[in-house]
Amino acid sequence: MDRLSAVQKRIRELAEQKDVIILAHNYQIPEIQDIADIVGDSLVLAMKAVDVKQSNILFCGVDFMAEAAKALSPHKTVIHPVPGSRCPMAHMVDLDELEKVREDHPGAPVVAYVNTTAETKAYADICCTSANAVKVVRSLEENEIIFIPDCHLGAYVQSQVPEKKVHLWAGFCHVHQDISTDQISEMRNRYPDADVMVHPECTMDVIEMADAVESTEGMIRYARSSDSKEFIVGTEKEHAYRLKNEIPDKIFHTIDTAICPNMKKIDLESVLKSLENMAPTVELDPDIIEKNKPPLERMLSLK
Ligand code: 13P
Ligand code: SF4
Repeated sequence: MDRLSAVQKRIRELAEQKDVIILAHNYQIPEIQDIADIVGDSLVLAMKAVDVKQSNILFCGVDFMAEAAKALSPHKTVIHPVPGSRCPMAHMVDLDELEKVREDHPGAPVVAYVNTTAETKAYADICCTSANAVKVVRSLEENEIIFIPDCHLGAYVQSQVPEKKVHLWAGFCHVHQDISTDQISEMRNRYPDADVMVHPECTMDVIEMADAVESTEGMIRYARSSDSKEFIVGTEKEHAYRLKNEIPDKIFHTIDTAICPNMKKIDLESVLKSLENMAPTVELDPDIIEKNKPPLERMLSLK
């Protein structure tokens, strides 16, 4: 607590007084990670949203993450300090187009990456995160699936589950898609002893160069258990803050162009203001909540 600034201390006091748990994604700025109760990847945060004892959740992440928390815990107040903090990929699904794709592949279930809007998840058979996408697809009895919206994560899943046909959508994350093979080669030359960890939202060319393909939480587990002492972090660069905090005896090299501007829209001032006002809150249509629960809960029930 001593290393916290006055604003951070005020945020913690208000959170206690108002029975608020603060959840933050691994890409949030360090000052936000430092005041959060839980920092994690999409899967950890979704699981946490289901069983928190506090009656209010303040979500420091992008829109789809806060929406998923609301859908999973509809009776709780979910505060999203900056509603304009949106994941562009989550908005890349046109529902009329999706309907046509379903008609083209009758019987193929729709696997929706959590990086989708609540309206899109309402059309999904099951959700997945980057941590469990392969497991989710393997768990399905059907041999053809429609994977939305990330074509790179979908291609990675296809490479791991060749026995099924994965129909891809043309969505992408600009942050990960822009990580190039040249950048990875250059980093490998500079740090020859380092293991390369990449997020499965990267392109297949980059994935094929990696020692480990992991969600952000998976990277923490991998780096902790690996014999290597140095790592190249092939994801949003802020993730190195948590890696360095949790594994201080190892070295993490970031890709300095990998920045998600939407994750940076939440700052201490906006969190403080939202706690003072207990707003802005995430509001979802009850019908959308009803339709989001089955695909999200089906994913969470997979062991
Ligand atoms: P993780 O679930 O791996 O944290 O990824 C979320 C995300 O938005 C990646 O860009
Ligand atoms: Fe979306 Fe990419 Fe930002 Fe993750 S890093 S929130 S996928 S834009």
